[in-house]
Amino acid sequence: MDIIVRPTAGEVGEYAADIIEPFVRAGATLGLATGSTPNPTYIELARRHREEGLSFANCDAFLLDEYVGLEREDEQSYYATIRREFTNHIDIDDAKVQSLDGRTDDPEAEARSYEDRIRAAGGVDVQILGVGANGHIAFNEPPSALDSRTRRIDLHPTTVADNARFLDNEEQVPRQALTQGVGTIMEAHTIVLIATGANKADAVRALVEGPVTPGCPASVLQNHPRTTVVLDEEAASQLRR
Ligand code: GLP
Repeated sequence: MDIIVRPTAGEVGEYAADIIEPFVRAGATLGLATGSTPNPTYIELARRHREEGLSFANCDAFLLDEYVGLEREDEQSYYATIRREFTNHIDIDDAKVQSLDGRTDDPEAEARSYEDRIRAAGGVDVQILGVGANGHIAFNEPPSALDSRTRRIDLHPTTVADNARFLDNEEQVPRQALTQGVGTIMEAHTIVLIATGANKADAVRALVEGPVTPGCPASVLQNHPRTTVVLDEEAASQLRR
C-alpha cells in the first residue's frame, strides 16, 4: 500500500479527490463511504463539479453499509447521509446511487442481491474508505473474517459509542448494520482509505504496520495491490516506519 501524509484534513481531501477524479471522468462505479472523514473529499469533488464541470453523469455508486431498522428518510440513515453530504451536490443519477436496505425483513436475501448488483455493475472501480477507531472498515467489526461477504452484523459497543455523536444520545444508535464484507471490499479495483485526526492514530498504525488479522479488519488492505492510505499528520503520528 502507498502511504501519503498531508498537513491538514482539507489537503487530504484534495489528494483523495485527485485520485478519484480520473475514475469519474471514465464513468466509473464508485464505492462511497459515509462517516465524517470523507466529507472534505466529497466537498472537493462537488466543487470540481460546480466550478470545473467535472461530471458524474456516467458514474454509478454503491454504499458500503447501512444501519438496520432505520427508514430511508431518517436523517441518520446512510441512504439519506450520502445524499445530503455528497450526491445531491453532483450530477449523478440518483437511481444509480445504490445502498443496502436497512428495513429488509430478509437480510440474507438483501445481502445476496447487493453482491449480485455490484457484480452486475462490473465491480467497484474505486472504493473510498474510512476506518473506525477499532480498525473496522465499513461495519466489519473486529473480529471479521478477511474473506467475509455482505451480511448483517452486531455493532461493537465502541462503535455505538463513537457514532452516538451524530445523535442526541447513545440509546438512539442502532445496534445492528448491514455491511459489505471484507472480502467484498477487497474486490474493488482501487481503494483510497482516508484517516484524519489523532483519534485514528492507533488504528492507522495497526492497519499499516501491524499483522494482517481479523482483529484489525483494515489490516487486510496490506494485501490489496492498489490501495493508497491518505492521512493527515495527526492520524500518521503513531507510524514508526
Ligand atoms: C462508521 C462507518 C465507517 C466509517 C467509520 C468512521 O462506523 N460505518 O464506514 O469509516 O464510521 O467514521 P468517521 O469517518 O466519522 O470517523
